[in-house]
Amino acid sequence: MKAIVTGARGLVGRRLVRVLAARGHDVVAWSRADVELSDRASVETGLAKARADVVFNPASMTEVDRCEAEKPRAYRDNVLAAANLAIAASAQGAHLVHVSTDYVFDGNAGPYREDDVPNPRGVYAKTKRMGEVLIEELAESFCICRTAVVYGWPQAARANFGAWLYGALSQGKEAKLFSDQFVSPTLADNLADMLVEIGERKLTGIWNVCGADVVSRVEFGHAFCDAFGFDPKLVVPTKLADLNLASPRPLHSGLVVDKIRNSLKNKPLSTRDAIESFKQSVREAPASSL
Ligand SMILES: NC(=O)c1ccc[n+]([C@@H]2O[C@H](COP(=O)([O-])OP(=O)(O)OC[C@H]3O[C@@H](n4cnc5c(N)ncnc54)[C@H](OP(=O)(O)O)[C@@H]3O)[C@@H](O)[C@H]2O)c1
Repeated sequence: MKAIVTGARGLVGRRLVRVLAARGHDVVAWSRADVELSDRASVETGLAKARADVVFNPASMTEVDRCEAEKPRAYRDNVLAAANLAIAASAQGAHLVHVSTDYVFDGNAGPYREDDVPNPRGVYAKTKRMGEVLIEELAESFCICRTAVVYGWPQAARANFGAWLYGALSQGKEAKLFSDQFVSPTLADNLADMLVEIGERKLTGIWNVCGADVVSRVEFGHAFCDAFGFDPKLVVPTKLADLNLASPRPLHSGLVVDKIRNSLKNKPLSTRDAIESFKQSVREAPASSL
């Protein structure tokens, strides 16, 4: 198939491009310099030219606290961009695989199933939910893939949870991790494999696409220490409220993975297997290669 990948320099986008190419697909990789997704004409022209079967859209403004300070940009990147892609993909008869987030839920009662009712809090979460709604309204063929706490090595332009944690612990520095936030950490390579399968099979609707386990950030840190042999005392438990962050975060989040587990050939990895794979990536690509 012919595929477009937006946000191709991002954490997930880079991996999508790699997996698609390795599976023999014809890939067009878009960074912001190639196509500004909030510019409707640019998206329409790009899609008409590429004539893709599937459009993968991991592009997004992902810095949660920055979204609070730069609301117009968050709306452009997370809402307008999604609407433009939905309209243009439909016009071209392309299937849209859109990447969203567990932050569409308030985190009062996770882990969440695909059909639970969203209640986003904060600008990032609200704009991601608006993007979902516009895709549901405007795209003729689409899949909304909600993921969570994506990490991978090497990192892309922005640091991610796993890369930051490895950076701190490997230098013997303490890492403050939330003991009261429960999430579904997701290895970016595993996510890319699952998203590509979803695109190849043109699966539709809403799917939770993330790691298999729901853990606290502290539990994740301890599993990380076990795998790498780091001193677990470097993991310093802290409470979300102690950090005074600009944007609210879901506390009891996490996503139920029954649907992907039962339907996909590429299965969600357990936290331990995902960290082992991360460790292998660190061995293959030392920090100096970033
Ligand atoms: N990372 C996580 O922990 C996490 C958790 C849950 C869900 N997700 C979702 O997963 C997806 C992928 O995240 P990620 O970590 O790969 O993000 P990322 O590394 O921040 O990459 C996002 C990419 O999208 C590009 N982009 C944003 N707005 C654009 C626009 N208007 N036009 C063109 N390009 C644009 C960015 O370009 P610039 O660098 O130029 O801005 C960046 O390269 C996102 O939808 C995110 O909401 C991520």
